[in-house]
Amino acid sequence: MRNFYYRAGRLFCESVALEAVARRFHTPTYVYSARGILGNFRRLKRDLTAISNLVCYSVKANSNLSILSLLGRAGAGFDIVSGGELARLEKAGARPDRVVYSGVGKTVEEVDRAIRAGILMFNVESAGELELVEARARHLRRRAPIALRVNPDVRAETHPYVSTGRVIHKFGVPRAEALALYPRAAASKNLTVRGIACHIGSQILSAAPFLRALGEILEIADALGEEGIRIEFVDLGGGFGIRYRNEPPLDVPRLAAKLVARMRATPYTLILEPGRALVAEAGVLLARVLYVKDSGRKRFIVVDAGMNDLLRPALYGAYHEIVPLIRSSRKVRVDVVGPLCETGDFLARDRVLPEVRPGDLVAVMTVGAYGFAQASNYNSRPRPAEVLVRGRRATLARARETVKDLMAGEVV
Ligand code: LLP
Repeated sequence: MRNFYYRAGRLFCESVALEAVARRFHTPTYVYSARGILGNFRRLKRDLTAISNLVCYSVKANSNLSILSLLGRAGAGFDIVSGGELARLEKAGARPDRVVYSGVGKTVEEVDRAIRAGILMFNVESAGELELVEARARHLRRRAPIALRVNPDVRAETHPYVSTGRVIHKFGVPRAEALALYPRAAASKNLTVRGIACHIGSQILSAAPFLRALGEILEIADALGEEGIRIEFVDLGGGFGIRYRNEPPLDVPRLAAKLVARMRATPYTLILEPGRALVAEAGVLLARVLYVKDSGRKRFIVVDAGMNDLLRPALYGAYHEIVPLIRSSRKVRVDVVGPLCETGDFLARDRVLPEVRPGDLVAVMTVGAYGFAQASNYNSRPRPAEVLVRGRRATLARARETVKDLMAGEVV
């Protein structure tokens, strides 16, 4: 069963009418389906059962504590990129020994915190970082587990802002450098070589780039093995593309079958770092129509959610379906815009939508990933509430910010 669907003309999430959620928690509000998130995670795990694997949910996609706790209890590991994300996982009760830590700009404080927490491995992105991790481990009298993030120079068709796996990108180290750094790491008393990693980009819709990247890092892992440097974990990163509009989504079961076939004969454990593919479709943003105005050329639907609440349309020109909470049939061409003082503040442009009136409610679809996570307080707008639905129950996952929260820590 789909997680969001119309029943008798009204939009539901699992067994909860979204109108009831809007009445109780007001708008704008993000609503997540627990069943949707767990279903995505469990399906992926099932597809990988034939091989040793660890699915590390990429926290940056949606770092709400209730989602982290939900996935942690289901057996997920996590991919983090900051000390803040690690702190969230500690609070959510996640196991640190299933955490991989990526990112090009780790600070001393962040490295120390992760060493002390006992994470699975640092995905190290430069020679300088390797030196820092080693020095901090020595200082703390510990051994730090590491993988090198290799930049496999694989082209993946996606938005240029979210493509990462080419030599022009800031991520990872080139193959030759990795081959030089591994022996140094293996010789260190304060480092344990544990894996090799890559991540080629996000919202990738075909299997081929993943298979090419996997081939590349397996080759390096095997070469290291021959030199006596044992790799345990092969981390292919995230980036599985989903359907926002009518694009054919990545066929994850098919890709998984190919990964299984490739990994089966190897001694390695496969790590994947999906973010979007686990949570995007399991989230919507509820908004209320404030005004309907006509410019003579265009009709604008002004809603109470804007680019500070959901940045993707403004930043990437991303498409998100918008549907009314009460089904209606008469259609009109409109722009759906927010209240912020920017022309870029739109949620949909030139979209044929069912006619709505001031006071009506709409849902912006497929925003469970990089929705709230990229929300800001621009225009001094408190960030929205977040609600988690489980069956018949809707519970607050994060209270709406208040105007007082906005000014916390500021000085007059
Ligand atoms: N692993 C690493 C090292 C990453 O950098 C990312 C995403 C992921 C995993 C998860 O990728 P996913 O499976 O979610 O595609 N804000 C953009 C997406 C940026 C992705 C950044 N890195 C958006 O809204 O489309």
